[in-house]
Amino acid sequence: MSDLSDILSALRWHVEIGCDEAIADLPTDWGTLAARPLPSRPAGAAPRAGTPAGPAPAARPATARAPAEPGLPLGASEAGASARARAREADSLEALEAAVRAFDGCALKLTATNTVFADGNPKARIMLVGEAPGEDEDRQGKPFVGVSGKLLDRMLAHIGLDRTSVYITNILPWRPPGNRSPTQAEIAACLPFLERHVALVAPDFLVPLGGTSAKTILDRSEGITRLRGQWFEYSTQGLAKPVPVLPMLHPAYLLRNPISKREAWRDLLTLRQRLSHLD
Ligand code: URA
Repeated sequence: MSDLSDILSALRWHVEIGCDEAIADLPTDWGTLAARPLPSRPAGAAPRAGTPAGPAPAARPATARAPAEPGLPLGASEAGASARARAREADSLEALEAAVRAFDGCALKLTATNTVFADGNPKARIMLVGEAPGEDEDRQGKPFVGVSGKLLDRMLAHIGLDRTSVYITNILPWRPPGNRSPTQAEIAACLPFLERHVALVAPDFLVPLGGTSAKTILDRSEGITRLRGQWFEYSTQGLAKPVPVLPMLHPAYLLRNPISKREAWRDLLTLRQRLSHLD
């Protein structure tokens, strides 16, 4: 049995290599997890008659062919193809959520506690898209319920909106461990679900929150400080017409950089003004 100083030096070593939180009561042996088969695609998910006509949402350039990550049955290119097929079959938000929950092509699912699909009103005019669930969202299974969610609620209230008048989702439905930034492979694997999500909701306005969301949705390389506050358009298979897009700063960024709140507030007024033209 280790004495206290052994335990402390083991703990210190974990902190030094970047572990910043415990995600489960018991350790996981990731070495053996790779050999454990994950549940395969449910029988009921086979292609059905009567699903939306038309080709699959256009695929972004494929990620380089890579072997499956430990614990995953699919490599990167198979994951993207599987996500596109599942997303295409989903003809309602309920079917899309079930497809996301059944998807085994993203390793983040292995470490997440919950799948975080969406919150708010799917009939709302505004669809907000964040980056990925954080710790609170992972625990509660809902987007933007932690500190940045509280700030987002205050920002929305500033222009007379709340969760009954917006719909909220994320680029990724699973929390990256320790809130690290998502990788391009993780984003590419899950992107077909987001594209279908936007097509099914068909909002009047799309608001990416933060750089990862803005760059992914707009397929651009500029940072959020260049993209924010400008209008763009988003098209994807299944949308009758392009949706106006207004990227904004992420609430978590605003918590770290309160000076930037003035830009965020300006962008909110831009959105409010455009909404009022529809009233
Ligand atoms: N940050 C995000 O981008 N999304 C959430 O749901 C929470 C925090």
